[in-house]
Amino acid sequence: MINWISFLIVLVVTLSALVIIWLAKDRSYKSSLSVANAYDNWTNDQLLERLWGEHVHLGYYVNSFKKTDFRQAKVDFVHELIKWSGLDKLPKGSRVLDVGCGIGGSSRILAKEYNFNVLGITISPAQVERAKLLTQEDISANFEVMDALDLQLENDSFDAVWSVEAGPHMPDKQQYADEMLRVLRPGGVLAVADWNVRDVMEGRKTLIENFIMQQLLNQWTHPEFASITSFRKNLIESSFSSGDIQVEDWTKFTIQSWLDSILEGFRRPNAIIRSGPFAVFKGFREIPTILLMRWAFANGLMQFGVFRRKL
Ligand SMILES: C[S@@+](CC[C@H](N)C(=O)[O-])C[C@H]1O[C@@H](n2cnc3c(N)ncnc32)[C@H](O)[C@@H]1O
Repeated sequence: MINWISFLIVLVVTLSALVIIWLAKDRSYKSSLSVANAYDNWTNDQLLERLWGEHVHLGYYVNSFKKTDFRQAKVDFVHELIKWSGLDKLPKGSRVLDVGCGIGGSSRILAKEYNFNVLGITISPAQVERAKLLTQEDISANFEVMDALDLQLENDSFDAVWSVEAGPHMPDKQQYADEMLRVLRPGGVLAVADWNVRDVMEGRKTLIENFIMQQLLNQWTHPEFASITSFRKNLIESSFSSGDIQVEDWTKFTIQSWLDSILEGFRRPNAIIRSGPFAVFKGFREIPTILLMRWAFANGLMQFGVFRRKL
């Protein structure tokens, strides 16, 4: 009996400490430097990579009742977005820009399996270093540190622009849209996937939703989320726009990723343990945010938007 009481006390104290640390540590967006630092840290300790593999994005699950490997679901996501956006129709050798490329998971698939000539850019120097190390020499994918809001690239210089889950880190969504469309040649392919907040026209946020939203922004260095409607407007109204933009909500295909991302920690405990005791703590610290994300997507506060140029 005493043992159970002691166990419960330790559990409650530990959970309370985690929640206090989770709420107290300031990880809010300050500038693109805060985003670069956050990803540099995640890349250098390799915790995310050991746990979730080389793709820093959600997976695509056709049937949520069918068991799918999390890493396979991420690869499936890349192929689904390639198909949906029309990228698979481009000829071999086409130039593709991957904006916010992480450690190059999508870039390598685009280069290796579709024979595109890919440039991946990210704000994190550590990610560029890691992406280069993970990319074999015969694969046509290069990586550079560059700010998505100030691309050092010529107008109309790419046949396709690809950007997955980088949008939430952009403080100026219009500039993000403008820069992608500026470097995309007329008639080129656009493939963007984003975590979007429910549009204001679809209902005001309640007090609880406002609190949750603040955590979803602050915990992972996000300045703001666009809604699917507002980002579509950014793309259509850009001075570099050429044509209509089609959107879809892929929440139902991706939502399983949130719980899977936690379960991966239990499926591959060595991935965390090998990274040391601090990594175990760091991993546990992310669980409340992941659960809040899951809640927000399940309850319509967040939506998983995909965007393409009209086919
Ligand atoms: C959630 S990760 C997605 C990574 C990658 N697209 C993938 O799917 O594996 C967000 C990425 O956006 C990048 N990013 C954030 N802000 C950026 C900026 N201003 N310029 C360039 N990259 C940025 C981060 O460095 C990171 O690589």
